[in-house]
Amino acid sequence: MNIPRAVGEMPGSPLHDVVTGIAFGGDYNPEQWSLEVWEEDIRLMREAQVSLVTVGVFSWGEIERADGEWEFEWLDTVLDMLHEAGIAVDLATPTASPPIWLHQAHPDILPMDARGIRFHQGGRLQWCPSSPVWREYSTRVARVLAERYAVHPAVRMWHVSNELGGGNRRCYCPVSSAHFRRWLADRYGTVDALNAAWGTAFWGHRYGSFDQVTAPLDSESGHNPGLLLDFDRFSSDALLAQFRAERDTLRAAGVTTPITTNLMIKPEPAVADYASWAPELDVIANDHYTISRDPHRERELSFSADRTRGLAGGGQWLLMEHSTGAVNWQVRNRSKSPGELIRNSIQHVARGADGALFFQWRASRAGGEQFHSAMVPHAGTRTRIWREVVQLGEILRAIGEVAGTRVERADVAILVDDIAGWAWQAGGKPLNGYPIWADAPRWHACFNELGIPADVIPRTGDLDGYRLIVIPGVYLVDAALASRIADAARHGAVVAVTATSGIVDETNAVILGGYPGAFRELLGAFAEEFLVLQEHEDTALDDGGRAVDWTASVEVENAETIVSYADGPLRGRPALTRRSVGAGAAWYLSAQPDDATLATVVARVVADADVRGRFAAPEGVEVVRRSGRGERYLFVINHNAHEISLEVHGHELIAGIDVGPTLTVAGGSVAVVREG
Ligand code: GLA
Repeated sequence: MNIPRAVGEMPGSPLHDVVTGIAFGGDYNPEQWSLEVWEEDIRLMREAQVSLVTVGVFSWGEIERADGEWEFEWLDTVLDMLHEAGIAVDLATPTASPPIWLHQAHPDILPMDARGIRFHQGGRLQWCPSSPVWREYSTRVARVLAERYAVHPAVRMWHVSNELGGGNRRCYCPVSSAHFRRWLADRYGTVDALNAAWGTAFWGHRYGSFDQVTAPLDSESGHNPGLLLDFDRFSSDALLAQFRAERDTLRAAGVTTPITTNLMIKPEPAVADYASWAPELDVIANDHYTISRDPHRERELSFSADRTRGLAGGGQWLLMEHSTGAVNWQVRNRSKSPGELIRNSIQHVARGADGALFFQWRASRAGGEQFHSAMVPHAGTRTRIWREVVQLGEILRAIGEVAGTRVERADVAILVDDIAGWAWQAGGKPLNGYPIWADAPRWHACFNELGIPADVIPRTGDLDGYRLIVIPGVYLVDAALASRIADAARHGAVVAVTATSGIVDETNAVILGGYPGAFRELLGAFAEEFLVLQEHEDTALDDGGRAVDWTASVEVENAETIVSYADGPLRGRPALTRRSVGAGAAWYLSAQPDDATLATVVARVVADADVRGRFAAPEGVEVVRRSGRGERYLFVINHNAHEISLEVHGHELIAGIDVGPTLTVAGGSVAVVREG
């Protein structure tokens, strides 16, 4: 029996006062349409069982037609219509797209690029977060909206701006430079401390005072990696300050419901340091789009969803946007195959999302995103996409009772860090342009293959209790994090460090004495030199494995050599080492393994940590468990075209039938079983 529960009974979910069950809906931009279309929208939303829509994201020019001239009638009508239909609203401050009149009046709010050229009106996120003029106008529109709608019964959540940094990640204008100098003075106190941190003796770049520092405007031969990294940190803080200013304005004007903003979490380093942003958001919300050219899109999705949950401290989060089909910003924008939008949504929910929302409700006729898919396509409702949207609404209703439960904590943690990625991107490296952050999803995929869940945690994450902790391509590791990782090993964790982790400290300076300096003592081994391979080269390992792209000449001090290089200049030197540390162990992989080799390395560390697979799933089948309130829910996502079966007892919520001892799932389908 399917027992629906009121979400109010589920403490823990940040969405428990927003919607009942799993939220379903998307960005709703009614300002692009007429009243007749709004009426149809409401009817169709009810048909699809939409429960939450984000309204107003790009509506500034429609609610403030000229400076201080407000036009709310249309928004009043839309919010009332939604309320009457029982659809909750996530109301956005419209600051992602300033109106034309504001740019006309104050062109100095436009951001400036690294060549010192200002951007022009149009587009979106065309503002400098350090501009006081911008701050005044943006918080004014937030305040006016909140004063009008804080107590509107439809408005259950607030959405600050949109994808902050997604078009204005770094601003190099004079106002930003001045702000950067204040930020540096706060961070370093004295200019001598700054000179020491950045190593400005190199190329004689000593600063005599903070006043001499500028944003790293283009210089042909490149900038100091310490300066570049601090400018990225500053830029993240400047955007976060904008988020805080809008959020605090909403609160001061009477908003009591959750306030969030949509992040852009994927394997690549983010546009902002989300580890420091996360505590500021009432709900961790993510926008996720699969990449057409990636043949393993579903794996990347799983990784990014787990990464999002890591930022939510392992708790629930909200998928604020994904797509029903093709986007319009890649080169070859692939649509989704039948069932893929449902599988994608359920993957996110399985991994902790308490809602699956889309960009956008109705496909636009005009404007910059006219060929982006939507819940209601250009062709209307006699379409596969609409039928799948309706089907997804039904599925989410049927599994509503999982809202508020948590994904079971894994035995394995994979640590990731945006700042470490930026440090790698700043300045010349042994292997330039190499995506070291791609190590993390590769390890994640190997664990999933073995039926072993792996949490993906930020540098601020809690390491306690993990049996296996992977530090994959985390180039920057500060002393505090290095010592937490070493403590975890002493207390029993098996720690696995890959070749490009722990090389620099928080100033982006190399930790001396052998790579990876942050872990030399823990590993009992160090690399004296990196030996980067050319594209066509690889190196054999003596267990039959192969290294590609990256090798290193390793000296063992106090560790056991498990695998050695078998040819080339490193023949006979250690490639994979292990050291017993207190109750745990530390492994060092100095070579970049190809896929098959990585799988054997993973098998070795898994065995050492005595981590067991939790799910025996056929290939191509994703299995995840959420639990809470004494119930356990098994999510099964069949990415294969053929039917699969799995041993499980319980009640399958989507079909509403008891299952066991075997559950069969049709090709491309999903199942959610309340176990027991
Ligand atoms: C982001 C934005 C949306 C839209 C989509 C397109 O998620 O937040 O406004 O532009 O991308 O994929």
